[in-house]
Amino acid sequence: MSGIGIHDLSVATGHHVLDLALMAEHLGIDPAKYHVGIGQDEMSIPAPDEDVVTMAAAAALPILERHGTDGIRTVLFATESGIDQSKSAGLFVHQLLELPSACRVLELKQACYSATAGIQLATGLVQRHPEERVLVIASDVARYALGSSGEPTQGAGAVAMLIGADPAILEVESVTGVHATDVDDFWRPNDHDTALVDGRLSITAYLTSLRGAWDDFRAHGGVGLEDIDHVCYHQPFSKMAVKAHAQLGRHAGTPTSAEDLEIPARYNRRIGNSYSASLYLALAALLDSDQDLAGRRIGFFSYGSGSVGEFFTARVAAGYRSSLRPGSVPAALDARAPLDFAAYRDLHVAAAPGSSTDRATESVTNGPFRFAGVRGAVRRYEPTR
Ligand code: CAA
Repeated sequence: MSGIGIHDLSVATGHHVLDLALMAEHLGIDPAKYHVGIGQDEMSIPAPDEDVVTMAAAAALPILERHGTDGIRTVLFATESGIDQSKSAGLFVHQLLELPSACRVLELKQACYSATAGIQLATGLVQRHPEERVLVIASDVARYALGSSGEPTQGAGAVAMLIGADPAILEVESVTGVHATDVDDFWRPNDHDTALVDGRLSITAYLTSLRGAWDDFRAHGGVGLEDIDHVCYHQPFSKMAVKAHAQLGRHAGTPTSAEDLEIPARYNRRIGNSYSASLYLALAALLDSDQDLAGRRIGFFSYGSGSVGEFFTARVAAGYRSSLRPGSVPAALDARAPLDFAAYRDLHVAAAPGSSTDRATESVTNGPFRFAGVRGAVRRYEPTR
């Protein structure tokens, strides 16, 4: 076995898009605050018949079409915006994708961090059973209250990753640095469908976690920043990665440049925050770029408010390009249906992700699966074709 890591990776997002210039216009804010100040251009908004389950299944489908389901005995569903207090959203995906019944399925929660936990858990499982593959899916709808400071940093997206031995895309290296502390920077009580956040505190908590995770990474034998070719960050908004990269450079004593972050921000700038998926959208954008990354080392900083941070590295496999889906993400982003500001706000008010009230949803999504509504207090999903 020549390592364990990401064998395939695929992205999905919501049906709609809101141009942040429209939000700026309606809220009387200088659009440069969004485009330059926080580094965001658009945000994905799910249709009424989409949620974390439909996006997750849509992201995973191309992986299963390419590789089949053999050997998949574990599905780890990472999300902050789960749709049930008890049942894993992964079970709905398991059924939609017709995965084998000989499978463990669970949901992982720690704000935006949990997909990284999923990858680390998956590498451990594969280490023990190299013939097995683990489907890790990060899927989130980021929702803040209307009129709050977080409103322009909403979004929606999913990244599915197949973790296995002899990976075709990325070998995850074993050294990792972790950091945990109890901080009230961002949270969502059980009776809230939008996040509560102390924006300023969340930024300093993110940076504190980065320094802590980096120090732990180095203390465990991690390479110096000068030996890392690219760094991908969790991007609640893309400017956060710029702040983090500068901070890491100062902390590690190695100069960094904001330009390093332009490519990994390409998808995030258009999708918005996608919580658990956001870091892996940065990876997707980097892999899809013109740069030849074969043999390069990528650093990852994963942050989940509350808070847990992790810094780890991975090596890009030779021949990784043949496992990508060139142009698929930009095409999906370009295909989104634009919303005007009033329609966006109506959708925000109407969306009640945790509701158990029976209802049928109208058919809107162009994706392969839809949330059909609630019947008998149970959420119902169906393929669209
Ligand atoms: N032109 C250019 N730049 C402008 C501008 C203009 N006209 N007006 C303001 N700016 C700049 C500001 O200078 C500022 O930049 P710096 O931070 O580099 O100084 C930036 O735009 C934002 O301006 P404000 O700080 O005034 O913005 P705000 O207070 O309204 O909101 C925020 C910023 C607090 C981050 C808000 O977006 C928010 O609450 N977001 C949600 C929380 C979040 O994303 N936190 C990130 C860390 S937590 C995490 O990572 C987990 C997660 O996913 C939530």
